[in-house]
Amino acid sequence: MNPSHPIETHGRPIILIGLMGCGKTTIGKLVSKRTGMPLLDMDALIEEQVGKKISQIFAEQGEAHFRALETALLRYLAEHPQTPPPVISTGGGVVLRPENRELLRSLGFVVWLNVSPRSLMHRKIRAANRPLLQTEDPADTLHRLWEERGPLYRETAHRILNTSRTEVGEVCRRVCNLAERFFAHQ
Ligand code: S3P
Repeated sequence: MNPSHPIETHGRPIILIGLMGCGKTTIGKLVSKRTGMPLLDMDALIEEQVGKKISQIFAEQGEAHFRALETALLRYLAEHPQTPPPVISTGGGVVLRPENRELLRSLGFVVWLNVSPRSLMHRKIRAANRPLLQTEDPADTLHRLWEERGPLYRETAHRILNTSRTEVGEVCRRVCNLAERFFAHQ
């Protein structure tokens, strides 16, 4: 299918950040379809490269190892710009390392899809696939993560979209409009 809305990004990616379940992959797919930019899902790529599910990497090698894999992938992308540039959907914890925050901001246009923890719980995110939600009270865990990471998402993002009550097609359009305006001034 031909893209309905190609964007001039000067070879740089559009990057989606935010808490697990905020829609990075869903919106990433829609933005990819609309712009014709390929989707690069960091979690999926890491799973493919390592040959293990994220939950298995966490269980066998620990979170610190997974974080190192995220940094290595971002460094690779910074050193090897992809043609055409991708829409990158990140893992929710990618902003934890200061180096990653810098890499993300210099790599491309970063949008934080900000969804309140309450809305995230309504979306029934699949806790089973998410090692960090294997807790007694996943709702409380999400709330804590949102509070801890909010400032990091804010610091990393060029733009913030509050998308708790916005349907996905509209979020996609907004991401594309913001990206277009951002790159027009580069
Ligand atoms: C994580 C989020 C997950 C995945 C890993 C760690 C996090 O990605 O990278 O389980 O620290 O929030 P999603 O945000 O796509 O669920």
